[in-house]
Amino acid sequence: MSGFFITFEGPDGAGKTTQINKVAGKLRQLGKKVAVTREPGGTKLGEAIRNILLDPQQNNLCSEAEVLLYAAARAQHVVEVIKPALAEGKIVLCDRFLDSSIAYQGFGRKLNLDIIQTVNRYAVAGIKPDLTVLLDVPVTVGLQRIKSKGGLDRIESEKLVFHEQVRQGFYQLSRQEPDRFRVIDASRPVDVVSRQVWQVVAERLGDLQYEDDNHGGTG
Ligand code: TYD
Repeated sequence: MSGFFITFEGPDGAGKTTQINKVAGKLRQLGKKVAVTREPGGTKLGEAIRNILLDPQQNNLCSEAEVLLYAAARAQHVVEVIKPALAEGKIVLCDRFLDSSIAYQGFGRKLNLDIIQTVNRYAVAGIKPDLTVLLDVPVTVGLQRIKSKGGLDRIESEKLVFHEQVRQGFYQLSRQEPDRFRVIDASRPVDVVSRQVWQVVAERLGDLQYEDDNHGGTG
């Protein structure tokens, strides 16, 4: 697959959406082909599942169903959006991916990590991010940002300790795969964060450019 898959992860309120849009804008200015997408969502099915998952009225949803719904949305997303975009050579910028299921359902809900991995291995069909930008923010700061913009969804309404566990989960994942992860302190002003995000993205895409040059003419 010739594209490049970048995921953005982090606790709620880390500012992923803003940062992804900024990166996408810069890449497009440079003439790169970019696809911006998100989880849960990115497809018609995924957006419908997203509505269920984030609906505060769904207060009876069991954790097992939660894992499977996120994974179902992901399976459709991989087949319908991510794989085709990568096959076209696009840089795919994805707001959350499998790491969110490990952090939220595994570390947050305390569900069996092996089961989450197994279900998701089926869903992702071999797709793995080339780079994961972890926007880290203290949970109180993140939740405050969300509250100032409006109401909390079903996941955001979880207790503080849940969000703390999620944050720790992301941190642990980043320690397990330091080559894939870049951790950025997202509690700072947007422009400071975006400069650092661009730095790590540009650094990795520099490699991609190099690879492309090496493989020039091979189709
Ligand atoms: P997000 O798109 O970041 O929310 P928003 O658009 O409101 O900023 O993610 C939706 C929520 O779903 C978020 O609280 C994290 C959660 N989530 C999981 O619990 N597991 C997952 O696998 C994914 C992808 C997201």
